[in-house]
Amino acid sequence: MGKSWSVLLSWPGRTGPEAAVPEVELERVAGDDSAIRIVHGDNEGVLQAMAPELEGKVSLVYLDPPFFTMREFERVTRRKSGTSPPVRILTPAFDDRWCGLESYLSSLRSRLVLLRKLLSPHGSVVVHVDPRTSHYVKVLGDEIFGPDAFASEIVWRYRRWPARTPNFQRVHDVLLRWVADPCAAPRFTQLYEELAPSTLKTWGRGKQKAVFDGTGRRRRSSTEQAPSPGVPLGDVWEISIIAPVGRERTGYPTQKPEGLLERVIGALSEPGDIVLDPYMGSGTTLSVAAKLGRRAVGMDQSHVAVGVTRERLAAAGVQFSEFRAVPVQRQQAPGQLRRHAP
Ligand SMILES: C[S@@+](CC[C@H](N)C(=O)[O-])C[C@H]1O[C@@H](n2cnc3c(N)ncnc32)[C@H](O)[C@@H]1O
Repeated sequence: MGKSWSVLLSWPGRTGPEAAVPEVELERVAGDDSAIRIVHGDNEGVLQAMAPELEGKVSLVYLDPPFFTMREFERVTRRKSGTSPPVRILTPAFDDRWCGLESYLSSLRSRLVLLRKLLSPHGSVVVHVDPRTSHYVKVLGDEIFGPDAFASEIVWRYRRWPARTPNFQRVHDVLLRWVADPCAAPRFTQLYEELAPSTLKTWGRGKQKAVFDGTGRRRRSSTEQAPSPGVPLGDVWEISIIAPVGRERTGYPTQKPEGLLERVIGALSEPGDIVLDPYMGSGTTLSVAAKLGRRAVGMDQSHVAVGVTRERLAAAGVQFSEFRAVPVQRQQAPGQLRRHAP
């Protein structure tokens, strides 16, 4: 893998000794061997436990970690009884409070280092963050995957109710993508957007073909009989957030729209490929992966996330198996038994 130059993101305490990853093994909770797998546990231990099986085999890792919001997040459900208005029930789902940016970045770094080993040579990793941390994560990713491996910065632009702020409204997230091996052809399927109204008005739906002069300069374009597939998809994506009464809404906080994952998974993997989501949440990645015929593994340490994903997949008729991470109990050899002091 070519690394022509390198960068390093440094923070106070970064140079200290790395903490050992607690060793876990996976215990099957439900389901037989299946293309879609849910794992309940801290992703650091789970990734380490699954490394012998997944090393070099994963085509796409999509990670949507907590965004360093310093907040606790709750799942919202509504219970209706009789004719009275529905009651809102809040259940703690996950905690995004940190000792500081250092601990956030250390945690993300250790996961990215483990994930890198799982990627196949044509694979890529997509890290979904927001402008609070995207500039740090960009450097961290360049450090781990190599600056040559950086492939795209996608801006997901959405519309939402305006906030009261003496600032520009924050209406975008950032998806950073690195490829596993810059020398290998990455998985990439060209997706298209609808033609602009002005293009449709001027040229219609026919495919445009560039016409070059003798010096190789593009002079004009000609319209062909064949219909245009649209404009090759750019790196600014306008996709609605999930509506409060949206069909896909699970009530899980920070749930991402399926439309977003359809683009990520559709462009960066092929049917039968393995897609991995170490911060699974409500299971958006697993749900879309199943629809698109991919194999998928989702991990989450929140039992609420695991419950929501289980319900969501079952409701969609998706077969899945479920595991939980349990600490490895090392048997002490007889000679190692500690004796009481006389
Ligand atoms: C932003 S949410 C993911 C939302 C998800 N993309 C969706 O569409 O629903 C982040 C998730 O990461 C989980 N999480 C945070 N730290 C984790 C860790 N160390 N191991 C496993 N899961 C973790 C949280 O429980 C939470 O469900």
